Amino acid sequence: MASLPKSVRVVEVGPRDGLQNESTIVSTVKKAEFIKLLTAAGLQDIEVASFVHPKWVPQLADAQDLIRQLEPQSNVRYSALVPNMKGLERALESGIRRIAVFTAASETFNRKNINMGVQESIDVFRPVVARALKEGLSVRGYVSTCFVCPYEGSIAREKVGSVAEALFDLGVDEVSIGDTIGAATPQDVEITCGYLQERLSGHKLAVHFHDTYGMAIANVYQCLQMGFTIFDSSAGGIGGCPYAPGASGNLATEDLVYLLDRLGIKSGVSLKLLRQASHFMAHELGRDLPSRVLKTA
Ligand code: HMG
Ligand code: MG
Repeated sequence: MASLPKSVRVVEVGPRDGLQNESTIVSTVKKAEFIKLLTAAGLQDIEVASFVHPKWVPQLADAQDLIRQLEPQSNVRYSALVPNMKGLERALESGIRRIAVFTAASETFNRKNINMGVQESIDVFRPVVARALKEGLSVRGYVSTCFVCPYEGSIAREKVGSVAEALFDLGVDEVSIGDTIGAATPQDVEITCGYLQERLSGHKLAVHFHDTYGMAIANVYQCLQMGFTIFDSSAGGIGGCPYAPGASGNLATEDLVYLLDRLGIKSGVSLKLLRQASHFMAHELGRDLPSRVLKTA
């Protein structure tokens, strides 16, 4: 059996990727309470908001107010999505110290999502990342639709590699490899992520699985065996992308932490306290959340 990592970093994206796709708009105060519960559960890397156009994602239109309400904690890193210079200006005003720029391996998806071609988005990000770094912020990058695109079908791993490389060239410190519509299988992951590990060796790669076909946890296990140590997930499994038809929630953080605990891999996250955060959000959203582990006693 392949040796597994001793510890991993969980990047909690529920307050952003999760809430962006919920029909209920959660109040700023309740979002701040949710994030506080997530930090109490031991999550140290939390994507809390998006500085995209509020007309396209009204659920996250309160990004500035929310970030101002968050309690700074020395061991917790909050981050937010930024698509362009206007987004960065809003991010800087909010006081957030980490941003994420996001593009895709598929031209069609990228146009539908951020109204830019892939190369165009890299060109738009160049001054954004440069300015963010100059202001002392750190920057993550995302590549969406790395395995399957809802419009273009299968995506070549070389395309993913070129886009991720372009993001690293801009100065991002980590790139998250997204299965935006949750369609990848462990074999797809082995092929694409194995290729990326070789091509981008020396760079930090995270993986970001959605769970549409129930493959997310199997894909995580595949990645653990390949030595990946950074996993994105959302509390309760809320989430999706409004511009990816059919995309359901992210891998649930509870399901991820259950697997890690059972494998003896440290994440620093308390499953018991995490459940409290997710039950809180389930109550706010007025529905059961998809996480399998959350449904157990
Ligand atoms: P656009 O219309 O092309 O922007 O939108 P524009 O530059 O042409 O400007 C048009 C107007 O929007 C202008 O206002 C701008 O000021 C304003 P006007 O002069 O007409 O009054 N504007 C903005 N306002 C506020 N904040 C901004 C901003 N930018 C321009 N940042 C844009 C381009 C990217 C803004 C738009 O397409 C957008 O907001 N898209 C939303 C995309 C999104 O949030 N998608 C979901 C997140 S991605 C995801 O979920 C995938 C991920 O989880 C990984 C995975 O699962 O694969 C990360
Ligand atoms: Mg996502």
